Amino acid sequence: MIELTIAALGAKGDGIAHHQGRDYFVPLAAPGDRVHVVAGAERREGTEARIERLIAPGPDRVEPPCRHFGDCGGCALQHLSDAFYARWKAARLTEALAAHGIVCAIEGMASAPIASRRRARFGVAAGAIGFRRRFSHAIVDIPDCTILRPALHETLRALRKRKAFPEGEFELLETEGGIDLKLSRGESSNPGWRRRQAALAEELDLVRLSLRGQDSAEVIVERREPWLDFGGVAVVPPPGGFVQPTREGEIALRAAVLEGVSGARRVVDLFAGCGTFALPLARDRQVHAVDMDAAALAALDRAGRKAGLVRLSQEKRDLFRRPLARDELKPFDTAIFDPPRAGAPAQAKALAQSRVACVVAVSCNPATLARDLGYLVAGGYRIERVVPYDQFRFTPHLETVAVLRRG
Ligand SMILES: C[S@@+](CC[C@H](N)C(=O)[O-])C[C@H]1O[C@@H](n2cnc3c(N)ncnc32)[C@H](O)[C@@H]1O
Repeated sequence: MIELTIAALGAKGDGIAHHQGRDYFVPLAAPGDRVHVVAGAERREGTEARIERLIAPGPDRVEPPCRHFGDCGGCALQHLSDAFYARWKAARLTEALAAHGIVCAIEGMASAPIASRRRARFGVAAGAIGFRRRFSHAIVDIPDCTILRPALHETLRALRKRKAFPEGEFELLETEGGIDLKLSRGESSNPGWRRRQAALAEELDLVRLSLRGQDSAEVIVERREPWLDFGGVAVVPPPGGFVQPTREGEIALRAAVLEGVSGARRVVDLFAGCGTFALPLARDRQVHAVDMDAAALAALDRAGRKAGLVRLSQEKRDLFRRPLARDELKPFDTAIFDPPRAGAPAQAKALAQSRVACVVAVSCNPATLARDLGYLVAGGYRIERVVPYDQFRFTPHLETVAVLRRG
């Protein structure tokens, strides 16, 4: 056993301590904590260690709001004071940008409320339904999870009461119509299995129940429309398709994006998903939506047609392998750029060479956002606004919208 004093919190949210020339990374620690730890695996940056005993808490350690904290692997940062947590998250963004030579003002960070998570993936094992246990592959029941929307809890409660659980993992999304459930495993060719799922959908009052397939999900039952309201345009997302994990986050990000593109006439929405930004924008301007997810684009197309958005077009394309090149970007005065966590360096480099007047970048990962913004700044873009939004409460992730203009 080693005694450590936690010096700081690293970018992934682990406490960092130095002891006898080594760096230790300690999950669930707060700065200033004195802890007894057991050393674990060696990482490139140092040694992993787990708290055996908290000898004395640091000044920013607080009682976590959720009773599952520590046991559940879902949240990593509930044990920090609000003030420290907000400072730490903002510093993640500032430091990530500075690492790429970007120094700019960052606006104040708003947060998604507690209990606002409307989309999540759950595991089922050994009679438990919930998230993965910390440091383990086992599943931990989370009846009092603080981040989930009440409707998700209701569905989990109903599932726990049943004798027969769904197998493997499943995803829940709360839509305007009700709960949409996607199973990871099942026997769709077995009529008995299909009947049982139809009965489950009825019993849980699900809007839709689907099964993950090779390329796309198969809808087993659709009892009502699982629709979402994207800024006044109704969309039915494909089963398991990307949607922002909280409604509040979706609204805040859309507000920042729409403000950033105000004045735009011809917009290309890169990594458009099923149209969080493209659909409301296409009401009064031309929008070309690009994504590699055919099912998401089909949902966007259906929603656009139903809403009469005649200036909306879409293109299925892998933007990692085939980014929109400088010439292909010529028709557009504005680009929205919302890649997955890994960012999209090839597309950022192509944008950097373009004449697009305004780029609005959205990201949930400060490190890859900063790298991609670095390409844009080197290509002559000026950062006008950086707006952080804490959509993933109690995790090291941070959502950010950055508005850039040429010249
Ligand atoms: C963070 S989501 C954003 C979606 C949308 N802008 C929204 O806010 O709902 C990232 C999107 O990138 C898409 N995507 C992932 N890899 C891609 C690739 N290589 N080429 C094109 N799209 C990709 C996903 O399908 C997903 O829709």
